Amino acid sequence: MVAQLRKKADDAAILVVLGDMATTVAAGNYSLVYLVFNTISNLLTQAEQVSCFRNAARHLVPGGRFVIELSVPDLRKLPPGQKAVVWQAEPGYIGLDTYDVVRQHVVSHHFKFGEGRQSRVFRTPHRYIRPAELDLMAQLAGFELESRHADWVGSEFTAESRSHVSVYRIPLERQAQRQKTGASAVKLATWDSG
Ligand SMILES: C[S@@+](CC[C@H](N)C(=O)[O-])C[C@H]1O[C@@H](n2cnc3c(N)ncnc32)[C@H](O)[C@@H]1O
Repeated sequence: MVAQLRKKADDAAILVVLGDMATTVAAGNYSLVYLVFNTISNLLTQAEQVSCFRNAARHLVPGGRFVIELSVPDLRKLPPGQKAVVWQAEPGYIGLDTYDVVRQHVVSHHFKFGEGRQSRVFRTPHRYIRPAELDLMAQLAGFELESRHADWVGSEFTAESRSHVSVYRIPLERQAQRQKTGASAVKLATWDSG
């Protein structure tokens, strides 16, 4: 991925830091941090996901934004006692999700096949997060929700939306208060030293 990026932009144009998104620190402060295409749910524990929010906050200038694109867990398709849901079935492809509702985990299985008897499978494990839990993680890191839409063109987020684009922002007044008093609350002290 980095090699592909380097074909388009050098180190002076875009700094690249390889590491765990929950903990890795990049030099500098930014106006935007983003995690799109269900990336935050690749972190498989709540603690890591909260740590990721705090890490994003650490990199932002006052008023900076953290943008997340994330699917909505499709648990309504899971009847009691059933652990798997086929979400796509077409010639040559089956998409199947298996759930562990205690750990809040879902594994997406992507099966690709041709005319023969064999198939190839690619799996991606996630810890799914409902929007309300995501908002609480944001709050723990000092963010407030600025907007939530169903897609990148601003469609309304509704009960039927399968995904969302959420924009979180650190309120300017909270930043100012923090700079004036050092640490105004345990929550912010944790976030500072995180
Ligand atoms: C769903 S993909 C999204 C890729 C890319 N952001 C995009 O928009 O196409 C999630 C990516 O996060 C990476 N990833 C998983 N866990 C990670 C972690 N703890 N820290 C950093 N990256 C991670 C995966 O390797 C994968 O490339």
